[in-house]
Amino acid sequence: MSDLKKLFIKTYGCQMNVYDSERMAEAMAPEGYVTTENAGEADLVLLNTCHIREKAGDKLYSDLGRLRALKDAKPDMKIGVAGCIAQAEGAEIIRRVPMVDLVVGPQAYHRLPALVRGADSPVDTDFPVESKFDLLPARKGLRGPTAFLTVQEGCDKFCAFCVVPYTRGAEVSRPVERVLAEARGLVERGVKDLTLLGQNVNAYHGTQNGADVGLAQLIDALAKIDGLERLRYTTSHPNDMADDLIEAHGTQPKLMPYLHLPVQSGSDRILKAMNRKHTAESYLRLIERFRAARPDILLTSDFIVGFPGETDADFEATLALIRQVGFGMAYSFKYSARPGTPAAEKPELPTEVADARLQTLQALVTQQQRAAQDAMVGRMCHVLYEKAGRMEGQMVGKSDHLMAVHVTDAKGQVGDLVRVQVTGASTNSLAAVPVV
Ligand code: SAH
Ligand code: SF4
Ligand code: F3S
Repeated sequence: MSDLKKLFIKTYGCQMNVYDSERMAEAMAPEGYVTTENAGEADLVLLNTCHIREKAGDKLYSDLGRLRALKDAKPDMKIGVAGCIAQAEGAEIIRRVPMVDLVVGPQAYHRLPALVRGADSPVDTDFPVESKFDLLPARKGLRGPTAFLTVQEGCDKFCAFCVVPYTRGAEVSRPVERVLAEARGLVERGVKDLTLLGQNVNAYHGTQNGADVGLAQLIDALAKIDGLERLRYTTSHPNDMADDLIEAHGTQPKLMPYLHLPVQSGSDRILKAMNRKHTAESYLRLIERFRAARPDILLTSDFIVGFPGETDADFEATLALIRQVGFGMAYSFKYSARPGTPAAEKPELPTEVADARLQTLQALVTQQQRAAQDAMVGRMCHVLYEKAGRMEGQMVGKSDHLMAVHVTDAKGQVGDLVRVQVTGASTNSLAAVPVV
């Protein structure tokens, strides 16, 4: 009988949580844990939570409710809550749901093995001085051709609506050498496409040989790794955009023509109330500069509708900005008041108003997304195969612009980077054939 134990992780929220979940699984591997897709057979269940909107929190408690039956059937199952709700609510989670065995904040994952062994107090939401990642074991084993790599964590921006500065702490950048070493390791394991992560990734400031290294220089250093073919970074803040990063989009061939740059609103009055410290105009100027550096760059963004005090005119200004930019895709959210944030003190708009605005905005963005997808038809691009398609002889992967592409390619293998011609488009994916 094997003494391997099973670990089930459910990940909510952003890409940084996806990365963190992977690192937590790696941290538990030396303890004899292998991952499973089936919570029912798990010895340890970790819920890696998100606190960004109210719904995210509701999901945690309804999932914990469902886990109760599993734990009743398997009493030695341990349940841990990680991520941003763990950070925000700490021991309160165990008070509310006593079957939770441990609570671990995003900065304490290197302590997870000790917490699970029961060697430490069951709640750890400290912010240690050392970067948690560099205290976790190295990443091992073969993997798919794409990966995330966190280079920066935390946020000092304090947008009036946002919990991230409270749950992820102040901005910290990882040392250049650590990032390079992790990237080399990933490439050795088959990774060709790397997305650098940070809550404010373009605020990255590392050091190498005593000199400051910004994100553009980090990207150049990573691009020198043989076998690494594609680089992206997310999420950026408009106020931290350096000239050399914009230029890199025109000069660094491994940097993909894609930029996610949240704007939140097109109304200067609302941007000010949000404490965004940029205007609609300064955002548009920035976009112009990216397009000058890389004319085919695909732009995506985040929007919040129904922020306290948002009038019809403010909302119209947001629609006007969207029309002016033309986004390839966008995430849009109805404002959700978060306890402890300054905006939560202000009176909320009626739900119906926010709902209607969200629908209007999403319809416009979907139209733009469809137009961006349609514009690809007939064009050439590169696709990195991530998996076999549902149909025989079909491979699925992402284009340079991060669009999903289904390629008819009977000889295709996962990890191949193939030049294709796009033959068809829908709102969410493209069809293509290889070009010989
Ligand atoms: N660091 C990134 C992402 C933060 S969270 C940035 O600066 O943009 C991702 C998105 O969630 C945000 O861009 C915002 O659009 C949305 N968001 C954050 N707080 C929110 C809230 N209280 N209600 C609704 N949406 C929110
Ligand atoms: Fe939140 Fe604003 Fe920081 Fe983004 S920049 S994580 S929205 S506080
Ligand atoms: Fe959510 Fe935390 Fe990410 S609140 S969006 S999981 S940083």
